[in-house]
Amino acid sequence: MTSIVEQLTSAVGAAFEAVGLSADLGAVFESDRPDLAPYQCNGAMAAAKQAKKAPRAVAEDVKAELNSQHPELEIEIAGPGFLNITPASPVYAIRANGLAEDERVGGRESAAPKRVMIDFGGPNVAKPMHVGHLRSSVIGDSLQRLMRFRGHDVTSDIHLGDWGLQMGHLVTELQDEQPDLVYYDADFTGPYPDEPPVTIDDLARLYPQASAKAKDDPDRNARSRKATAELQAGRPGYRALLRHFINVSIAALKDDFGALGVHFDLWKGESDVNDLIAGLVEDFKARGVAEESDGAWIVRVAREDDKKDLAPLILVSSQGSALYATTDLATILDRKQQQNPQLTLYVVDLGQSDHFEQVFRAAYKAGLADEGALEHVKFGTVNGTDGKRLRTRAGGTFRLADLISEARERARARLNEAGLGAQLTEDEFEDVARAVGNAAIKFSDLQNVRTTNYIFDLDRFVSFEGKTGPYLQYQAVRIKSLLKKAGEQGIEPGAVTISDKAEAALIRRLDAFDSALGRAERDRAPNVLCEHAFGLAQAFSGFYAACPILPEKDEAIRASRLTLAGTTLKQLEIVLGLIGIDVPERM
Ligand code: ARG
Repeated sequence: MTSIVEQLTSAVGAAFEAVGLSADLGAVFESDRPDLAPYQCNGAMAAAKQAKKAPRAVAEDVKAELNSQHPELEIEIAGPGFLNITPASPVYAIRANGLAEDERVGGRESAAPKRVMIDFGGPNVAKPMHVGHLRSSVIGDSLQRLMRFRGHDVTSDIHLGDWGLQMGHLVTELQDEQPDLVYYDADFTGPYPDEPPVTIDDLARLYPQASAKAKDDPDRNARSRKATAELQAGRPGYRALLRHFINVSIAALKDDFGALGVHFDLWKGESDVNDLIAGLVEDFKARGVAEESDGAWIVRVAREDDKKDLAPLILVSSQGSALYATTDLATILDRKQQQNPQLTLYVVDLGQSDHFEQVFRAAYKAGLADEGALEHVKFGTVNGTDGKRLRTRAGGTFRLADLISEARERARARLNEAGLGAQLTEDEFEDVARAVGNAAIKFSDLQNVRTTNYIFDLDRFVSFEGKTGPYLQYQAVRIKSLLKKAGEQGIEPGAVTISDKAEAALIRRLDAFDSALGRAERDRAPNVLCEHAFGLAQAFSGFYAACPILPEKDEAIRASRLTLAGTTLKQLEIVLGLIGIDVPERM
């Protein structure tokens, strides 16, 4: 099912061809002067040279051709040779009826579906999550929803940070607190207790405790380093502890991410690829991908045309240990063996740009992935209303769980103001508060071009007015209740006919869904989806204000408008779904 823009492009392209010019001059897009005409084509300007004619004369020729072939299009020439195009009502009506019947409301699948791996979230075991992890989760989840909707075969992986010094800190700090556990005895190789010796609160306490001590005490730090090295070398008691720490963390993370409506297929981490590292390093050495340098093994990744020198990737440190980049390379190998992705997206803050550039180049050099198959989807930082990096009131790092519950708290207050508390059961009210709180967080993050920094301002985000997630939910809820009322009054939807320009304007927004999807996918840009959702909701508002539905006397017009309302709701729910926003029944 082709969009209006595509139909116009092919009609105008054919007209250019008919007058002896190339068809690709016929690209049509929505006009930047909608007061003059809804669509325009600037091809005549570009054609002038090829045609050896003034642009206006080219435009006259194309117009004459279009007039004879397409009586349903009104063509005007403006300025030096812009073609202004106004389709007649049936063009809109036919398209709207097609959209109304389509399950996907015009959103098509990709013509080239791929196996896609999305690496996002990336929280670290024992370290509290900060807003950077929140951004990664929200953006990554939207991208996985988008890529799935586009027909790609997607696997998402949270890629836990569970293999660094923080694990050694946990082991040693626990040893100080509970010295009698079986895990520290180097001669005891199990079996170990099934019950974890710690809770998530213990983990949250032990790590900061240890790292604070280690800051002023080199010996304390050295102990943690040694424990980390032994853990990585496979000391059984430490490995058993690691497994407990990871399991306890995963259980807590599943709760947090579940509350946020963010899903991961795989809950793997850096530690899961440890067994692949030795072989990978040997292979890199044997094939000359890695070389020795001052006792370390490195991969040179600088390229001639680099603007700034990219340092070599350190595969094995001079102390003999594998580093962050090594685990990322081993993870690429693991994924190649397991899912064999054709494209991998890493949704990680732009502070890690050099790291990923090093890892990708090393992977390409070693033949672990095809050039271009690994992509860093970068994002900027989140700042507080003071313009500085977001902190809690006490000055600490924001924890994801606190942020979610604070958003929910504001949502509750806002819903109570709206009088909803009295109308719903407690459970229903909580569900709506959760949906609204999540929508506030997600939309305010995703609506930004992802590489920019943005200011976190919950009060603004939970507002039902303006460009917010709750505003969009509210618009969708309004349509839902309208449809319900129509049903109660026995009013049936029917074929779309155009009787007002607000209807055409709404159909133009519905029509643009597929191109928004394409751009969002191409640029890995959920903000394009947010723009589309917002534009659609606004067009619906305009339509609803200008075109009465239930009170409309003309039965055919009433039925047509009901179809438009239902189609808008369906598309709006799909787009909001791609942003990770649920629409409640009431709010
Ligand atoms: N755990 C890392 C951090 O907190 C993020 C992981 C990103 N993904 C990756 N494959 N390196 O910075």
